Amino acid sequence: MSKRSLWGSKAGFLLAAIGSAVGLGNIWRFGYMAYENGGGAFLVPYTVALLLAGIPLMILEYALGHREKASPPLAFARINRKWEMIGWWMPTIAFFGINLFYAVVIGWCINYFVFSFNQAWGADTGAFFMQNFLQVSDSPFNLGGICWPILASTVLAWLVSWAICYREVNHGIEKASMVFMPLLVVLTLVLVGWSLRLEGAWDAVKTHYLSADWSKINPLSAGGGKVWVAAFGQIFFTLSLGFGIMITYASYLPKKTDIVGNALITSIINCLYSFVTGFAVFGTIGFMALSKGVPFAEAIKSGPGLAFVVYPEAINQLPAGKTIFGLLFFLVLIMAGLSSAISLVEAFCCSLIDKFNFDRKKTVTVVCMVGCLGSVVFTTRAGLLILDIVDHFVNNYGLVTGGIVECLLVGWVLKASVARRHVGGAGGVRLPKFWDVLVRYITPAMLLVVIGFALYSEFGGNYGGYSTRMLLCIGVGWLVAALVLSVVLLRYPWPYNKLAREHQPEEDHLLV
Ligand code: ALA
Repeated sequence: MSKRSLWGSKAGFLLAAIGSAVGLGNIWRFGYMAYENGGGAFLVPYTVALLLAGIPLMILEYALGHREKASPPLAFARINRKWEMIGWWMPTIAFFGINLFYAVVIGWCINYFVFSFNQAWGADTGAFFMQNFLQVSDSPFNLGGICWPILASTVLAWLVSWAICYREVNHGIEKASMVFMPLLVVLTLVLVGWSLRLEGAWDAVKTHYLSADWSKINPLSAGGGKVWVAAFGQIFFTLSLGFGIMITYASYLPKKTDIVGNALITSIINCLYSFVTGFAVFGTIGFMALSKGVPFAEAIKSGPGLAFVVYPEAINQLPAGKTIFGLLFFLVLIMAGLSSAISLVEAFCCSLIDKFNFDRKKTVTVVCMVGCLGSVVFTTRAGLLILDIVDHFVNNYGLVTGGIVECLLVGWVLKASVARRHVGGAGGVRLPKFWDVLVRYITPAMLLVVIGFALYSEFGGNYGGYSTRMLLCIGVGWLVAALVLSVVLLRYPWPYNKLAREHQPEEDHLLV
């Protein structure tokens, strides 16, 4: 059995885990969600979701990866062979359901980074994005050919991911995170500081971000439930939970590790990053709304529209420093995206290496080539539409399902008390017994409500106005394809002795 890599330092592990969590979602998803769901009041359900689901699950994923020293399929199979499939499902859906389009979005950012030099997006940034750049077709079934500049930058994004993941984690991902993350923080703070100095920025922050519309978060009011569900969904995505990433990253930790401390630091820094970035988002949009004389509500957009339409529009209005501001913003997005993309590649590759004893370099090379080929569909003229549907289904169902199942596996099959004792035995902060209650009952129940609500909303009207056939073929089809692949991977036998645990943690035998 080849020796498992270890992180070179605690800081290296933390930066890599925070790098995975801090991603595109923190920048374009959080701000918009806060605005839509009660402004400052959204921070209440967001914090509750962080405490009741985010942190307990982060501890769970770290504990599982650390205890088994294994990627999700191996960790799950060691606890109970019957659960191995979900261990495959998590990295498979994360890789094929997210990484393929994530690389393309990083590709868009690379293009826009170049466009920033002369604000090539022109005066009508919306038309430029949809018609000139993406050349969006009229249906997700009408691929309409490849957009070559997007393909070129997507290949570049994959090449960078490949070059980083090719080396052992302590040389590749760890070293890259040690460069990316401090730089990302500094650049983000510069961006926030600059944004807040723009005219009208601080007023917009105060009126739309920091003020609270409490009526929106009352779970019993009409629409109040939606806000709580949105908060749980956001916490899940932003902390990279249910992807299998945190299990994989924790499998490279040394025996003595402060699991609870690391989970708290990762979760809190990620959420603080979102909160601080919100100032830049609201400030910049506030400035743009004021300069153009339009209401704030009309200026703000969700998802890609925020980064590729609203921001360029705001940059156009700047009195000075247009180029630098654009370069800064898109560089922040590229770095946040890449540090998450490499974690998606790593979780899938590590699962394959664990199961098939493959060579790391060859695995990473083949996986990145397959990923790059898979991304091509998102570089076509139907790319944005397909991305929108896949993202909706993978986020709402794919990841949360993984989260529920891992709660049940650790809470009931392994027993939460065993995992808790493992955490205590590894050193650092000890877990209170209440964590068992969270993992066994509260967190899975909350996640079930999230999935139930999402399903219920599907019947209220087709998502995004797409036809039922499109949603079934692309959205549900994507989930089914990932399921089939998980089953195929599951059916291969494990190499001799692989399922035997390398060590039987002595703390498992201690009394609770
Ligand atoms: N956690 C990553 C993000 O927020 C995937 O984008």
